[in-house]
Amino acid sequence: MDARPNSPEARDIRYHLHGYTNARKHQESGPLVIEKGDGIYVEDVAGNRYIEAMAGLWSVAVGFSEKRLVDAATRQMSKLPYYHDFGSKSHSPLIDLAERLVQMAPVPMNKAYFTNSGSEANDTAMKMIWYRSNALGQSARKKIISRKRGYHGVTIAAASLTGLPNNHLSFDLPIANVLHTSTPHYWREAEPGESEEQFASRLAGDLEKLILAEGPETIAAFFGEPIMGTGGVIVPPVGYWEKIQSVLSKYDILLVADEVICGFGRTGEMFGSQTFGIRPDIMVLSKQISSSYLPISALLINERVFEPIAEESDRIGTFGHGFTGGGHPVAAAVALENLKLIEERDLVGNARAVGAHLQARLRRLASHPLVGEVRGVGLIAAVELVADKAGKAPWGKPGALGALVNGLLQQNGVISRNMGDAIAFCPPLIITEAQVNTLVDAFERSLTAALPQVRAQG
Ligand SMILES: Cc1ncc(COP(=O)(O)O)c(C=O)c1O
Repeated sequence: MDARPNSPEARDIRYHLHGYTNARKHQESGPLVIEKGDGIYVEDVAGNRYIEAMAGLWSVAVGFSEKRLVDAATRQMSKLPYYHDFGSKSHSPLIDLAERLVQMAPVPMNKAYFTNSGSEANDTAMKMIWYRSNALGQSARKKIISRKRGYHGVTIAAASLTGLPNNHLSFDLPIANVLHTSTPHYWREAEPGESEEQFASRLAGDLEKLILAEGPETIAAFFGEPIMGTGGVIVPPVGYWEKIQSVLSKYDILLVADEVICGFGRTGEMFGSQTFGIRPDIMVLSKQISSSYLPISALLINERVFEPIAEESDRIGTFGHGFTGGGHPVAAAVALENLKLIEERDLVGNARAVGAHLQARLRRLASHPLVGEVRGVGLIAAVELVADKAGKAPWGKPGALGALVNGLLQQNGVISRNMGDAIAFCPPLIITEAQVNTLVDAFERSLTAALPQVRAQG
């Protein structure tokens, strides 16, 4: 780190509070300051080049140097830099994107609603669901079920839906009316001798027990990511989503698919809902919608959701919700161009083909003494590290081994992220097989480098 008083690092320490960072430790260790991007690579201020194996935050589908997105933004910025959708106003990029998204949806959807982040979109989904319950005269139907280790964002409602301790501790969360059911992580949570199918049935049973204990007439919706991302890339077991959906439909509970990570090709289908046979009432979209070149997110809602909302807004006089930046014309224009690129370049097909190669290469590491589980689908994967393979035990404090290997990986030219002891890989959808080989070779070298230290410390 460059510690000179006017270096970017020193000024970052002086002026900037980081998200998801130990603020005290950061004052010692400082930032990694990224200066530019090129394809799947980013470069820091010292000129070191890295494979961005997380596509930023699971989001830069088209890579870090896509001129067509820059041009789309410039064109729209020159024509109409800002407008909104309040009071029946509209503009072409928003209309085009709404039409495009509704037509792309894997199940019949009725309307698109625009927000600026995944968290805002999930908060909005929760408010729409409450509004709908009231519209239907079901004022008791306000409870929402999500899952332990699920991730839905950080605003007050979204952080409550999130099922990770760090998003609740000292924030006085979760709020009332949010409940968490079990995590579909077969490798970690299955009982001895239990098959994947039996495990999935047990989890559907847990959900039904929770619904019955709370009173089915009080449960409005279930939120889930097709694959849990931030919770550690948890791929659900065979039959899981079918069984969960049959419980939800039995009690007339809405299903929200949080497609913020899985959407737009990540799993080798356009949406994670297609990969897992999910039939949502609401889809939450963000990140790869614009490759995160500009912030934009959206909800797709079906008729069951839209119609009561329309009625209630008519009764009250307005749908009293909206964001200044919702459906921003420049962000919408960038999203439209990004979706065009995903289609033209068949990045979904690339996620499927190159994803299969990534999965196969990572699975070859399964016999490594530090590897507990390799999991993933398409271009999203995680390798969970353990010190004791048989007992699935961590190396000292949970997360210590993950942090060690993640640090070594960075020294080896790859930016990844450790969620506890799970090292995640979620590269741009443009990645090639040769680049996957470079990435996995660097990971293998990092595991090899960590081994003597792990053995020495027991
Ligand atoms: C599945 C999922 N939902 C919601 C969010 C929150 O999105 P944002 O950070 O844009 O608020 C994320 C962010 O990583 C996510 O992965």
